[in-house]
Amino acid sequence: MPHITFYKHEPIPMEMHKVKIVQQLQLLPTAQRLEKMKAAGFNTFQLHNGDIFLDMLTDSGVNAMSDNMQSAMLRADDAYAGSETFYRMADKLRQLFGIDHCLPAHQGRACENILATRFVKPGSCVIMNYHFTTAKAHITRLGGRVEELVKKEGLVSKSDLPFKGDIDLEALEACIQKETPANVPFVRIEAGTNLIGGQPISYANMKAATGICKKYGILTVLDASLLQDNLYFIKTREEGMADKSVREINRMIADLFDIIYFSARKFGFARGGAILVRDEALYHSMEDLVPMFEGFLTYGGMSVKEMEAMTVGFEESMDMDVISQGPQFIDYCVRRLDEYGVPVITPGGGLGAHLDAVQFVDHIPQEQYPAGALVCALYICGGIRGMERGTLSEERNADGSERLASMELVRLALPRRVFTLSQTEYVIDRVKWVYDHRRLIGGLRFVHEPKTLRFFTGILEPVDDWPEKLAAAYEADFGKEQ
Ligand SMILES: Cc1ncc(COP(=O)(O)O)c(C=O)c1O
Repeated sequence: MPHITFYKHEPIPMEMHKVKIVQQLQLLPTAQRLEKMKAAGFNTFQLHNGDIFLDMLTDSGVNAMSDNMQSAMLRADDAYAGSETFYRMADKLRQLFGIDHCLPAHQGRACENILATRFVKPGSCVIMNYHFTTAKAHITRLGGRVEELVKKEGLVSKSDLPFKGDIDLEALEACIQKETPANVPFVRIEAGTNLIGGQPISYANMKAATGICKKYGILTVLDASLLQDNLYFIKTREEGMADKSVREINRMIADLFDIIYFSARKFGFARGGAILVRDEALYHSMEDLVPMFEGFLTYGGMSVKEMEAMTVGFEESMDMDVISQGPQFIDYCVRRLDEYGVPVITPGGGLGAHLDAVQFVDHIPQEQYPAGALVCALYICGGIRGMERGTLSEERNADGSERLASMELVRLALPRRVFTLSQTEYVIDRVKWVYDHRRLIGGLRFVHEPKTLRFFTGILEPVDDWPEKLAAAYEADFGKEQ
């Protein structure tokens, strides 16, 4: 992709694949979208996929597979124990990461459950550059705490810093000293930091951070779920990395960590997960948790077909043509919105384009979930399903008060190899319209609020009749879209 230039046309991202299987889409009329949003309790997780035009909720488990991934599924070796498929998968991971021991799990949060169960005790403090919802939920479930030490520039929405996921090294060392190493079971570094806009972390920062941990004898854990985007950014943005192959950079990163885990719904473009453990004794200390929670040690709750597909997907993640498609589409989308004045997280990261709802709908107080309201507005006005990543995705403090998120984002995910440039243009167009009509959007409040991970299953309602007014203004401009 990066080597294609144009004669007359302005540069645009280019798909380095062709479409072989398609899924029909439909755009429901505006009035029906409004009804569907009400029925979904103003929570985009509750919408039915058939009622959605462009599903930009997530990249998780919805990336397009390649022909090679699909065909690999045919040779899957179905066995409860000793499946050849598992050995092929573990071999590929050993080749790419240089780590011998692999614990399979059904998805990323299952890996987080195993790691937290093994290492976290009441009062433990797990240090991270930034949390991910499920990683944090497993730690707090066991009485642990999370300290997030991303550099403060990482939380500034408009920026040209290339690595906004970097951890503050001074704060890391100070935190270890304050907590004492014995109380820090591990430091978790997240590649392609999900909740702050898919922002990458530099190799130099990972090296320095893991160096500090080693000095204090603390285990280092890499969440590699979004590693493929991070690899692209290290190669294209970090000094001294342009001449290294993706494979070399991947190995340099892997060599820094004791444990690497990932969601293969993201890394590997299939559905599953795994924990790679360098130390044999440490591996054995976690081993029994796999048959207990996941499945036998050679499938870990995954379908063998998916394992074969992800084995090919891991290899494809080392291909610059494959891993650059997502970040380049996101960059295109972010630049076009930014030029129009729409508040977006810059520079574009991985995973998706992220709207800054605090600025976008600055008239909605954080207690009324501005990002949650904006994400509903985008479904009503265009049939686009995004995801709230802000206060609604947090859990309340112990005293019941809201824990206000440090960023209020609407994520418009671009699952890899799924959307075309014309669909991306449509999204840009509808976001511009919603931005020009943003004063019509109002807040939300809970009707049913689960205690844990409330963003998945919570039911909300609008604070007044703003959705009807918004839909009416949209229909006045675009008709009924029937
Ligand atoms: C960075 C990160 N870690 C962990 C997970 C959890 O993975 P899964 O959804 O497969 O449970 C995700 C999922 O989105 C993620 O983005």
